[in-house]
Amino acid sequence: MMWKFVVLSLVMSLSSVHCYGSGPPLGRHPEVCRTMKPSHGVDPMDSEPPFLLTTGSICYKPLGLVPVSITNASIFYEGFFVLAKVSEEDNDAYGRFIREDSDKGTVQTQDCFDKVDSGISHSDDPHFFGHNFTWHAPDNFTDAIHFVATIVHETKEYWMNIRSGHLIFDEACDIETMDWPTSSAGKHSFTLLAAILAILSHFM
Ligand SMILES: *[C@@H]1O[C@H](CO)[C@@H](O)[C@H](O)[C@H]1NC(C)=O
Ligand SMILES: *[C@@H]1O[C@H](CO)[C@@H](O)[C@H](O)[C@H]1NC(C)=O
Ligand SMILES: *[C@@H]1O[C@H](CO)[C@@H](O)[C@H](O)[C@H]1NC(C)=O
Repeated sequence: MMWKFVVLSLVMSLSSVHCYGSGPPLGRHPEVCRTMKPSHGVDPMDSEPPFLLTTGSICYKPLGLVPVSITNASIFYEGFFVLAKVSEEDNDAYGRFIREDSDKGTVQTQDCFDKVDSGISHSDDPHFFGHNFTWHAPDNFTDAIHFVATIVHETKEYWMNIRSGHLIFDEACDIETMDWPTSSAGKHSFTLLAAILAILSHFM
């Protein structure tokens, strides 16, 4: 009994400073959607970030597709987390992200504020020097938005509040559009299946 407790506390204290190579642990720590702060036991860097968050458009329209990039990485990074925000204080995120096919295995979308794919992050931690992905605008939103990133160079060195320029809503914005996916049932039934398998494997 005592050992179990010791082991559990050890695991817990290790995990509180652990850098999540597999991406921000939003399942267990949904507050990270709000704080965008990794639990790495140190404060973020206050120097100028060595990365830029850029967009392929300065406007968006309903269901528009906007290219978003992490660029100018003058040092490698092992982790990132990006949301589309109206303000940092609104506890919400808008639209959804689509990852590049070539990033399968190292990048994953995240569900923040009960919205499917409303965030995007790493899911493995090789040394990255840039990323491209796509933001898909909602069909009924008109506030100016901007992108906000936390980017982790190494566990003890990370920058927060890296911001893109603002994108204003404009019906005439010259970008492609795409229908909003009708259902995310596939993704959720997969999660459910994974959960059931995890529980079953516990008893075998
Ligand atoms: C980012 O890199 C591009 C291409 O190398 C360069 O033209 C631009 O000035 C850089 N921007 C900043 C802010 O460093
Ligand atoms: C992102 O896209 C630009 C333009 O197509 C390309 O030059 C760049 O290499 C891409 N970056 C990454 C990390 O794939
Ligand atoms: C926008 O659409 C979403 C999804 O269909 C819905 O949940 C939300 O209530 C809508 N918002 C407004 C302001 O109509």
